[in-house]
Amino acid sequence: MTKEEIVILFQNKFGKETPEVYTAPGRINLIGEHTDYNGSFVFPGAVDKGITAAIRLNGTDKVRAYALDLSEYSEFGLNEEDIPTEGWAKYIFGICREIIKRGGKVQGFDTVFSGNVPLGAGMSSSAALESTYAYALNDMLNLGIDKFELAKIGQATEHHYVGVKCGIMDQFISLFGKKGHLVRLDCKTMEYEYFPFDPQGYKLVLLDTQVKHELASSAYNKRRESCERAAAAIRKNHPEVQFLRDADMNMLNEVKDVISEEDYKRAKYVIEETQRVLEVSDALKKGDYETVGKKMYETHEGMSKLYEVSCEELDFLNDIAKKSGVTGSRVMGGGFGGCTLNLVKDELHDQFIEEALAQFKNKFGYEPKVYDVVISDGARKL
Ligand code: GLA
Repeated sequence: MTKEEIVILFQNKFGKETPEVYTAPGRINLIGEHTDYNGSFVFPGAVDKGITAAIRLNGTDKVRAYALDLSEYSEFGLNEEDIPTEGWAKYIFGICREIIKRGGKVQGFDTVFSGNVPLGAGMSSSAALESTYAYALNDMLNLGIDKFELAKIGQATEHHYVGVKCGIMDQFISLFGKKGHLVRLDCKTMEYEYFPFDPQGYKLVLLDTQVKHELASSAYNKRRESCERAAAAIRKNHPEVQFLRDADMNMLNEVKDVISEEDYKRAKYVIEETQRVLEVSDALKKGDYETVGKKMYETHEGMSKLYEVSCEELDFLNDIAKKSGVTGSRVMGGGFGGCTLNLVKDELHDQFIEEALAQFKNKFGYEPKVYDVVISDGARKL
């Protein structure tokens, strides 16, 4: 939605004074999945799909908000007990509360927002929403909060008001994204490096199964608990192991008999995935996309068999990609449904998409959605 369009929609709801307009994007992640909360590496990029919000301070201590795409309205105060009932409004409320907890003075505001990040596709529509409001309030109220802290405010919103114990990747990239660049973030030290990403001769394309699992957030939290248990067991022998990122397979094998088989599999995946991100970084620096693609397939295998966050539909798409000679393909994001990310040679692209849609429809009765990936800028004022 353009700035002009959202301003008009705002004025239709709240009168003719002009609001400020902000936007923040969703993301893709090339590799490094379920690694962020294990203190390891991720490799995301912001996309050209996001949330756009028009906002104006209203001189009260109330927030009045319209979710335009849902035609829903919510009004809430800024105290802890004022938590709204609408799921989407909890994100905005959470951002306000987390700013207040850090000593920021939040005032009431009127707002409307709209988005085009596909919901449940693993592209972080929720981080886009959080980052839009965190960035906007910081800017409008001159709070002077740095972008890392804004990302943490978004993450804390998920932890405390949504119930997902997520890592920092999605909020980080929604704020730090840069056109044409992926970012390798070390989630332990928070050091990051921009990598220009313009693979000549290849395209990145997402295939959205549109599968959304109801229990995805509790399953996500369980994965995190498994990792923390495995890291704690290793730490008894190796006190320097703060996160699974600090461990290797030898250390994990030492505790194989004291942790559950399930925790072992989860930890094995994370240790191997950490290695893959480093190998992909080297490959990218050399422009070696064949290696990048190979690692993507390995990640899919690990997410499917060890981490168990794939599903039949995603595995099916991954299989088709492999059989069609696609360079790399894997489930992207938290999993439990959503998209596969595919690195495809230009000359294979159209034929692969056609084949994948037809075969998928034949098996599941509907076609996956197709999104081209355009790596774009992070949160900003329009
Ligand atoms: C979700 C979370 C992220 C990350 C990914 C998996 O998107 O919000 O923090 O853990 O899943 O890589």
